[in-house]
Amino acid sequence: MTPFRIGLFGKGRLGAAIAAVAAESLTWQVGRGDTPEAKADVAIDASVAEAVEAHLAWALATGTDLVIGTTGWAIPELEARVAGRIGVLSASNFSISVALMARFATVLGRFAALDPARDPYLVEHHHRLKVDAPSGTAKTLAAALMVGCPRKTEWTLGTPAPHQLSVGVVRAGAEFGTHTVGIDAPAEVLELTHRARSRAPFAQGALVAARWVHGRKGVFTMDDLAADLLDPLFVFGGRP
Ligand SMILES: NC(=O)c1ccc[n+]([C@@H]2O[C@H](COP(=O)([O-])OP(=O)(O)OC[C@H]3O[C@@H](n4cnc5c(N)ncnc54)[C@H](OP(=O)(O)O)[C@@H]3O)[C@@H](O)[C@H]2O)c1
Repeated sequence: MTPFRIGLFGKGRLGAAIAAVAAESLTWQVGRGDTPEAKADVAIDASVAEAVEAHLAWALATGTDLVIGTTGWAIPELEARVAGRIGVLSASNFSISVALMARFATVLGRFAALDPARDPYLVEHHHRLKVDAPSGTAKTLAAALMVGCPRKTEWTLGTPAPHQLSVGVVRAGAEFGTHTVGIDAPAEVLELTHRARSRAPFAQGALVAARWVHGRKGVFTMDDLAADLLDPLFVFGGRP
């Protein structure tokens, strides 16, 4: 059987963590200013926001599926540019547990929607070197909460108006990434927290995403992967 070949854009913290788990699948890993010289089944972008558009152009030109883990970028008309030529999966957080948390966040949002006294919120904490704030994961989780709670239509870092979801950001120390979604009600608080103890969950999830997207055509997110992997967990009823 032909081995699965992974290429990697980025030699920073996330790039190093992915390289460590990709082992023999890693065909190339390039840093700033380098161009890949070998083929790959899937390339993973773990670089900087400004470089993502060029990496997409490379993936389209070479017909290589692309997994984008880099955060803070925006490419206008991404779907139209990809136009079903390759598979592209973008994810602000590769952790499968965080994908599960996003589903729970929507359920929490629905619970908050039942009673205006239930006030949903989100807090995230990352190491002091993280460039973007709030994190891409925080934005994803905020969106998942607001899908469940339609009276919240946007998030804010400041004092929230009634239609705004309160988001708190901490940039301190060496934290890999902690996200809490919660509901504050008059007499009780319900919180769900994900805390990464290392970059390993992101690295392992990046490989799961690479295998999942390979051979698919179009633009996907971790939510599409989660629909395959996690939705069967959301069947209730019967005895445990
Ligand atoms: N999806 C996830 O699960 C997840 C998890 C963690 C982090 N992230 C995101 O992943 C990105 C990288 O995070 P990080 O912690 O690894 O940052 P980092 O340590 O700063 O690494 C970024 C690396 O990208 C390199 N780079 C810059 N331009 C490049 C180019 N054109 N081609 C290839 N490499 C280039 C940088 O090189 P120089 O040092 O020469 O500039 C640096 O080594 C961030 O956007 C972060 O938010 C995502």
